[in-house]
Amino acid sequence: MGASVASGAGAGAGAGARTGADAVAGSPAAAGPGAAVKDGGTGPDPAGRSVTVLGLGPMGRAMARAFLARGYAVTVWNRTAHKADDLVAAGARRAGSVREALAANALVVLSLTDRAAMYALLEPAVAALPGRVLANLSSDTPDGARAAAAWAERHGAGYLAAGIAASPPQVGTDQGRAYYSGPAELFEAHRGALGVISPVEHLGADPGLAPLCYQVQMDLFWTGLTGWLHAVTMAEAHGVGAAEVLPYVLDVAGSLPEVLRFYSARLAAGDDTGDVDRIAMGAASAAHVAQTARAAGVDPTLPDAVLATFQRGLAAGHGDRSFTALREALRAAPARA
Ligand SMILES: NC(=O)c1ccc[n+]([C@@H]2O[C@H](COP(=O)([O-])OP(=O)(O)OC[C@H]3O[C@@H](n4cnc5c(N)ncnc54)[C@H](OP(=O)(O)O)[C@@H]3O)[C@@H](O)[C@H]2O)c1
Repeated sequence: MGASVASGAGAGAGAGARTGADAVAGSPAAAGPGAAVKDGGTGPDPAGRSVTVLGLGPMGRAMARAFLARGYAVTVWNRTAHKADDLVAAGARRAGSVREALAANALVVLSLTDRAAMYALLEPAVAALPGRVLANLSSDTPDGARAAAAWAERHGAGYLAAGIAASPPQVGTDQGRAYYSGPAELFEAHRGALGVISPVEHLGADPGLAPLCYQVQMDLFWTGLTGWLHAVTMAEAHGVGAAEVLPYVLDVAGSLPEVLRFYSARLAAGDDTGDVDRIAMGAASAAHVAQTARAAGVDPTLPDAVLATFQRGLAAGHGDRSFTALREALRAAPARA
């Protein structure tokens, strides 16, 4: 995993611009390793511009629409069949079964809630896996993706794990990005087709890399968004609405890129000097957040967790160091009751 990975995950949704080979998105996809399977499917489109999309939640539907808009022959399947209706009306082909959907194309894009859903769909259809390339854009853990790649290989399929930092409306545009890990040759063979979904990057051969970057993004995203919702709930308890605090929220949110660049450089240099912030200051500040929540009758679980982390830093004697020294506390999971 190189520097491009670090910058990729840090840039987040909305930062991507198609460059270089990404600009070939929509050009005929390479046929991939898959030959047509003799299973009632139509086989790969002779021109290679064909794809199967399994999973038609908001993301899978947006992906199928993007492929259709770029002239791809799109085969779709979803557990809840009616979610394919408008896509079929727009030109997609509805597969009668997962097996048929797999048989239809060399490239199979998965957009499912989680890995359990993938196994639920694919286990009964493994006979159609040989020669397919599964590009899994569903959320997963690094270890889960490594296991899934090994499972796919055992069944004769290639596997690209992916993370996608784009919302459904951003799919099919230059906004956001999708990053893949797994065999480089599989990625290169399908780079053009995958580029239809979002601007693409390949992070490396280890299938766990893309899910790792995705969970890095989701850790920040969900923790940050839940923190925002908590803050708004606290304001509302005082009769102050989300719109009223928005300018102050945006001050903090807008400062984050600079703050993150500053502390990332310091982390890289191993520099936890407390010249800008000190853990003792952070602990007092976090205590005030928790106290404000309690006084407002708002659940203090989230600020208490932050405060507890600062207190472990204090207990370790790091009060005069920057909050980045809390990494030591974060590495050592606290004992659970
Ligand atoms: N939404 C976003 O903004 C966003 C952005 C980036 C990444 N993602 C990731 O992209 C993936 C898809 O997101 P989404 O919003 O489209 O998710 P979603 O609403 O959870 O839909 C996912 C799909 O998974 C299927 N599914 C779930 N459990 C299943 C099971 N046991 N068996 C068969 N099918 C099952 C659903 O089928 P049914 O229709 O039959 O329920 C649906 O087609 C997720 O992993 C998510 O983390 C989402």
